[in-house]
Amino acid sequence: MHALIVVANPNPKSLTHRVAEQIADGVSLNGQYNTTEIADLAAEKFDPSYTLEDVDVLQGKANPTPEILAEQRRIGRADALVLVHPVYWWSFPALLKGWIDRVFTNGWAYDDTSSDRLIKKLRYLPVHIISIAGAGIRTYARHGYYGAMKTQINHGIFDYCGAPVKTSELMFQSDPESCLKTAHNIGQKIFATQVERIVDESRLTKTDRLSCESGVRPRRFDYV
Ligand SMILES: Cc1cc2nc3c(=O)[nH]c(=O)nc-3n(C[C@H](O)[C@H](O)[C@H](O)COP(=O)(O)O)c2cc1C
Repeated sequence: MHALIVVANPNPKSLTHRVAEQIADGVSLNGQYNTTEIADLAAEKFDPSYTLEDVDVLQGKANPTPEILAEQRRIGRADALVLVHPVYWWSFPALLKGWIDRVFTNGWAYDDTSSDRLIKKLRYLPVHIISIAGAGIRTYARHGYYGAMKTQINHGIFDYCGAPVKTSELMFQSDPESCLKTAHNIGQKIFATQVERIVDESRLTKTDRLSCESGVRPRRFDYV
């Protein structure tokens, strides 16, 4: 199983990056054949600005650019998408929001070209969202900020595309050791239930079973 861990923080020494590393470590520890890729959007210089070319893609007049296709392909290779981000203004940092804006295109993440029906195209993709807060829990509780974030992000973005949000965790910068420990536990659990599901899956093909035995990760489109 393969986890794509997307990180949006320009500081490689930040708590955000350390949390992402702990998640990757937990994923690897949980299964011999588990793999991870950390997509460091800042280091990769992903451009979050929505462009005229993106408008053309939205309107069905052009195909996504190679940069966007590459992002969609690496999500397509993943069995789980993990987003690790600091809270900026009670939401995603612009870098991560722009990544969603540009990569989760109409036709790939969802299809709303038909006027009467929205097609959710990411039902296969479990999502884990780890948000790191500078403010304390009381501030979040007093203003309802975390509820607002979950409505906007979990429901507004991922449910719109059909992607099930399996983890939604708000961590507090004030207790970094607890953040790192929780991150490691989350990493260990990411594929725990999915492995059971695949092993119990009565519809597995013979190729899938051989793949499992040989340690080659079965692809979801191998299911009959
Ligand atoms: C531009 C900016 C906006 C921020 N807005 C918030 C906010 O709305 N709520 C909050 O709890 N923390 C906010 N913070 C604090 C960050 O969330 C906090 O510094 C970060 O999670 C610490 O982790 P790091 O070491 O990974 O950067 C903000 C920080 C910056 C730089």
